[in-house]
Amino acid sequence: MSGILEGKRVLITGVLTEASIAFHTAKLAQEQGAEIILTAFPRPTLTERIAKKLPQPVKVVELDVTSEEHLGRLAEIVREELGGLDGVVHSIGFAPQDALGGNFLNTPFASVATAMHVSAYSLKSLTMACLPLMDGGGSVVGLTFDAQYAWPQYDWMGPAKAALEATSRYIARDLGKQNVRCNLISAGPLGSMAAKSIPGFSELADVWNHRSPLEWNMSDPEPAGRGVVALLSDWFPKTTGEIVHVDGGLHAIGA
Ligand SMILES: NC(=O)c1ccc[n+]([C@@H]2O[C@H](COP(=O)([O-])OP(=O)(O)OC[C@H]3O[C@@H](n4cnc5c(N)ncnc54)[C@H](O)[C@@H]3O)[C@@H](O)[C@H]2O)c1
Repeated sequence: MSGILEGKRVLITGVLTEASIAFHTAKLAQEQGAEIILTAFPRPTLTERIAKKLPQPVKVVELDVTSEEHLGRLAEIVREELGGLDGVVHSIGFAPQDALGGNFLNTPFASVATAMHVSAYSLKSLTMACLPLMDGGGSVVGLTFDAQYAWPQYDWMGPAKAALEATSRYIARDLGKQNVRCNLISAGPLGSMAAKSIPGFSELADVWNHRSPLEWNMSDPEPAGRGVVALLSDWFPKTTGEIVHVDGGLHAIGA
């Protein structure tokens, strides 16, 4: 039986630990027939170690998404390895400590700017760096945490995710003519490195124990990875600028 990503070439950012949503995305993508390439931050050695746990060997390229130099050389490296791309996964988020954990009203703009650069603007930078490789069109998929609401502790990551969500819609607007789609998975809380860096994250996650219609397991990033793989596939051919919730249904519940 052939997989839903058979023949697809996909660049995946954000593999840092086995708890990374991107790790599960990479695993599922390979299982579904894709050829993949990973990017790594802050050090390729960390990602290379985790990549050994994937079903097939994979090349790892260093990429700090705020580095013009790294972005500038990305297309050439990927072209040599895969010839081109059909999909790009943006699984990147970061905010400095003083932008998180209840410090919203006192965060200096420099920290807000960093959060916005790494977590939102980078969807545009990464997409444009990869655009020359997506000749026949492609699918860009990012990860958000529902930015319609103000959450406990999430602070400036909230506005950064709101900016990411808007950025995705504008990319959808501007690249539709080239048959490039851009969509996001809005995931429920997961115990990754990014989550652990948010002081009081368990308070936020506890909301899911009380309000999620479907049982939510914070230690299982696979459902989010499945959502990403579905959006990378040909099974959403006319969907762009969309946000698909993989959150146990919590977004639909008022109280
Ligand atoms: N964990 C959650 O609860 C949750 C929920 C919804 C959405 N998300 C989003 O999912 C995505 C992946 O996060 P995760 O939970 O798998 O955590 P993670 O810590 O495993 O992944 C975050 C990734 O961002 C990368 N990164 C940070 N700064 C970077 C930079 N300058 N350049 C390139 N990469 C950089 C890190 O290397 C890491 O791989 C993020 O966008 C996150 O906001 C996470």
